[in-house]
Amino acid sequence: MFLSIAAFILLGAGAVHSQFVPPPTDLITKTGYAGYKVRYKEVPKGICEQSDAKSYSGYVDVSSDQHIFFWFFEARDADPKTAPLTSWINGGPGSSSMIGLFQEQGPCRIDSNGNIVNNPYAWNRKSNMVFIDQPATVGFSYSTTTPGYIPDAESGEIVVLNSTSCPSDNITQGTCGTYSNPLLNVTDIPTSTAAAAPAFWATLQGFMGAFPQYSRETFHFSTESYGGHYGPVFNEYIESQNAKNIPGAHRISLETVLIGNGWYNPLIQYQAYYNFTVFPGNTYDYAPYNASTAELVYDNLYGPGNCVDQLIECANTGSNVICSAADNYCADNVESIYDEVLNRDEYDIRELEPDPFPPEFYVAYLNTGTVQSAIGAYVNYTEFSAEVGDAFNTTGDDGREDGTVEDMRELLEQGITVMMYTGDADYNCNWLGGQVVSQEVNQPGFDKAGYVNISTSDCIVHGQVKQSGAFSFVRIYESGHEVPFYQPLIALEIFERAIAGLDIATGHVHVNSAYKTIGTPESTYREGNSTIQFSVVNTTATYNITTGAPNPPLRWARLVKE
Ligand SMILES: *[C@@H]1O[C@H](CO)[C@@H](O)[C@H](O)[C@H]1NC(C)=O
Ligand SMILES: *[C@@H]1O[C@H](CO)[C@@H](O)[C@H](O)[C@H]1NC(C)=O
Ligand SMILES: *[C@@H]1O[C@H](CO)[C@@H](O)[C@H](O)[C@H]1NC(C)=O
Ligand SMILES: *[C@@H]1O[C@H](CO)[C@@H](O)[C@H](O)[C@H]1NC(C)=O
Ligand SMILES: *[C@@H]1O[C@H](CO)[C@@H](O)[C@H](O)[C@H]1NC(C)=O
Ligand SMILES: *[C@@H]1O[C@H](CO)[C@@H](O)[C@H](O)[C@H]1NC(C)=O
Ligand SMILES: *[C@@H]1O[C@H](CO)[C@@H](O)[C@H](O)[C@H]1NC(C)=O
Ligand SMILES: *[C@@H]1O[C@H](CO)[C@@H](O)[C@H](O)[C@H]1NC(C)=O
Ligand SMILES: *[C@@H]1O[C@H](CO)[C@@H](O)[C@H](O)[C@H]1NC(C)=O
Ligand SMILES: *[C@@H]1O[C@H](CO)[C@@H](O)[C@H](O)[C@H]1NC(C)=O
Ligand SMILES: *[C@@H]1O[C@H](CO)[C@@H](O)[C@H](O)[C@H]1NC(C)=O
Repeated sequence: MFLSIAAFILLGAGAVHSQFVPPPTDLITKTGYAGYKVRYKEVPKGICEQSDAKSYSGYVDVSSDQHIFFWFFEARDADPKTAPLTSWINGGPGSSSMIGLFQEQGPCRIDSNGNIVNNPYAWNRKSNMVFIDQPATVGFSYSTTTPGYIPDAESGEIVVLNSTSCPSDNITQGTCGTYSNPLLNVTDIPTSTAAAAPAFWATLQGFMGAFPQYSRETFHFSTESYGGHYGPVFNEYIESQNAKNIPGAHRISLETVLIGNGWYNPLIQYQAYYNFTVFPGNTYDYAPYNASTAELVYDNLYGPGNCVDQLIECANTGSNVICSAADNYCADNVESIYDEVLNRDEYDIRELEPDPFPPEFYVAYLNTGTVQSAIGAYVNYTEFSAEVGDAFNTTGDDGREDGTVEDMRELLEQGITVMMYTGDADYNCNWLGGQVVSQEVNQPGFDKAGYVNISTSDCIVHGQVKQSGAFSFVRIYESGHEVPFYQPLIALEIFERAIAGLDIATGHVHVNSAYKTIGTPESTYREGNSTIQFSVVNTTATYNITTGAPNPPLRWARLVKE
């Protein structure tokens, strides 16, 4: 899965003074579980959260060069002292979890005028939520700080400044700020999913120890995209740490693992790029390739020595060099043909590039001094860490299955609920690949279960589920990669059902191991191509969750009424 870094352009308009982030002076220090130091503050009301629910943010100091940022929100509609606790992390590797907070299921969104807009479908209505930027150097997390700038938005690489004067040219000046120092060859930047797990566990230990009032009950884990790697591996690590009874450490009562449009098994999912675009195709009646392009993709996948052969050699040898080369070959010669030929958003086949959805206006909000001091940030905000992307690239982690499927099976055997959900307009981690992965998990009874409609409070069918026992695979209609952005109502309701141990289809049945959905063997609903866009959508346009398309400009709206 190749990440289009071009989407992560910094929107910093350059005030020449105070480009740099002053270290916060008002953080409270506590020692969390297992001895991890936590520095945090209460976030003033109105910074994102508009309700009376309290919010805290800060850092867990996992090591001298791993300072992991968290932002916590109390549950709005439940007693926060008894409500469940859910963590959210985005993927990448290298993507910030502020994406999930500000574009998906957090308490607020930022509109094109920079205004804070309440999100009525926020997951913190039902659960205490903690968003974690990991590993170090992602988002607001840092290693050691330095003044710097980003001359090339495409690569996102940070260039260290030797003084605190920003470059004078008007293009890079707006990218000037305080960043993690990339020159220090930080030994603690993980190069694989497995290597990132200990710092995530340590972050939870720190947070839970600093906030025992929110951490007494159950724990739920939610993630997306590269979270198909992080979710299974991190949670198996949590369970193995629990089993060790480490003195001073907290037993984390993991109950649920939720993964949206995950990247699990590259061997299956690189092949799914062909299936989604050519045969059997997507459900939007959109066959984007002509015969020669389809043939090229097929050959680059299955030709001798090509993508599939290289991924198999990676799996057989485990070699960093072979896995990295295999993953880059597949990304450049199979996945990216879509970008080159179609110029469509990999995360939503319905939109051309540049796709204004979900909007990026929150990045500028997080790069204001007011917000940074309100949340205790030590560095400027970046949506993506090139350092982490590069580090994972050295082992080809993206081209490895990493035991993700086996880990999901083991989590299920330990009584944990696992829900895989997928927006069906996403090409990048598309639902056809996810569906094959769901079958590979081999949950007892899953092969006999069928797809059924999911009922929601708005009485509109937004998707289907196939479920056996505590394992479910969900397909969401008219949704790109970031499901809670495109389909917020069903996203909230299936989240609520999953963490309560209820069936995903109705939310009325307490699931036991005998529970199974009785429905069709395939999910056959087709949206058709009415929401596929053939011209670029204006950057200030808004997305309509009812029509699954951009709202027309006001001018058109008036014409329609006349
Ligand atoms: C800063 O100093 C280092 C080491 O002296 C040098 O390699 C680097 O190019 C300098 N950076 C800039 C932006 O001048
Ligand atoms: C940068 O400055 C040059 C020369 O002053 C000007 O022509 C150009 O339009 C500016 N570019 C931007 C992006 O502001
Ligand atoms: C970094 O943050 C400061 C405020 O602390 C802001 O003035 C500056 O524009 C930010 N830099 C970028 C690149 O956004
Ligand atoms: C960091 O590592 C690179 C590649 O291994 C090396 O070229 C460079 O000199 C190292 N930098 C420092 C500051 O050690
Ligand atoms: C792709 O389609 C082929 C042929 O229908 C099927 O055997 C395979 O399982 C599919 N793979 C994915 C990942 O969808
Ligand atoms: C849209 O769908 C219709 C009906 O399936 C089909 O005839 C038409 O070719 C499709 N249009 C495009 C642009 O794919
Ligand atoms: C990843 O590593 C490969 C070498 O295996 C290199 O060719 C490629 O440019 C690297 N990609 C990125 C994004 O750094
Ligand atoms: C098929 O599509 C490709 C990519 O758009 C284009 O370069 C090529 O000319 C097309 N071939 C035919 C036969 O139309
Ligand atoms: C499922 O929903 C579809 C609309 O997406 C509807 O046509 C169909 O009748 C529903 N099936 C059942 C069994 O209710
Ligand atoms: C985008 O929309 C804004 C507000 O409606 C309008 O002022 C602007 O001209 C539009 N831009 C383009 C390129 O259509
Ligand atoms: C979304 O579209 C529906 C149906 O056309 C319309 O009634 C509604 O007002 C639109 N929503 C927004 C926010 O414009």
